[in-house]
Amino acid sequence: MNELTEEVVRSFDGAPQRLKTVTQALVRHLHAFIDEVRLTEAEWTYAIDFLTRTGHITDDKRQEFILLSDVLGASMATIKVNHPAGGTVTESTVFGPFYLPDTPKFANGDDISQGAHGQPCFLSGVIRDEDGDPVPHAAIEVWQADEDGFYDVQYADLDRAQGRGRLVAEQDGRYWFWTVHPEAYPIPTDGPVGELLTATGRHPMRPAHVHFRVAAPGFDTLTTHVFTSDSEYLDSDAVFGVKRSLIADFRRHEPSELTPDGRTVDVPYYTATFDIVLARQLHRPS
Ligand code: BEZ
Ligand code: FE
Repeated sequence: MNELTEEVVRSFDGAPQRLKTVTQALVRHLHAFIDEVRLTEAEWTYAIDFLTRTGHITDDKRQEFILLSDVLGASMATIKVNHPAGGTVTESTVFGPFYLPDTPKFANGDDISQGAHGQPCFLSGVIRDEDGDPVPHAAIEVWQADEDGFYDVQYADLDRAQGRGRLVAEQDGRYWFWTVHPEAYPIPTDGPVGELLTATGRHPMRPAHVHFRVAAPGFDTLTTHVFTSDSEYLDSDAVFGVKRSLIADFRRHEPSELTPDGRTVDVPYYTATFDIVLARQLHRPS
């Protein structure tokens, strides 16, 4: 470590333990980065302006910092540290900026699309623990974009939920609902993050997916997606969120085929199964 880096690291010696660990490592890595790229003063000024604009475009509906973290892979790196892969537990992936906390309640079998455009899709599965036993009554939140790649919150003239909602799994862990078939879509590109993608020749697309957040007492809350196996961009997700275990086949059916819940629909429709395994909460010593 050079003298300057050492002096700055030492300045955090008196911080509480965790804060000291984080700030001192941040300083060491930041200084090493500046040295490695021989950062010019013009680049430093540009970086300050970039972060300032990232802050200015952020409000209670738009979180450009999360988007920046996503496209730099920092969100997935944090998930990797906190939810290591391995075992049977369903893998986690990015939360994204389109979650809403208070969404309409649905019963199993309901249609959460509520008029969102797209081809009908029946999604179902079972919530289990790591031993394979069903987890009864897990709280499930789902949200997704429509066939044009937009979430309800992205329509300025729409004042109700479409393509999102919450339901509760049955006693035997099963859940099922109707929605629309998800499509690939671009992350918002009209801010500094879009500028970064354009300048570096990267595309903004995410493969088609449905978001899930699943909570049950005694288990870690799971934030994940199910991806459609035939989507474009599975190998080049703009936010690095794809995990092979989260890809499912969405099967297309003709209207003549009876639906899994015994109905007939007058257009082609899709079905997919997404079983979920929750991790038991560890009792961490305080
Ligand atoms: C999403 O899937 O909703 C999303 C995730 C990260 C960045 C932008 C969108
Ligand atoms: Fe999404």
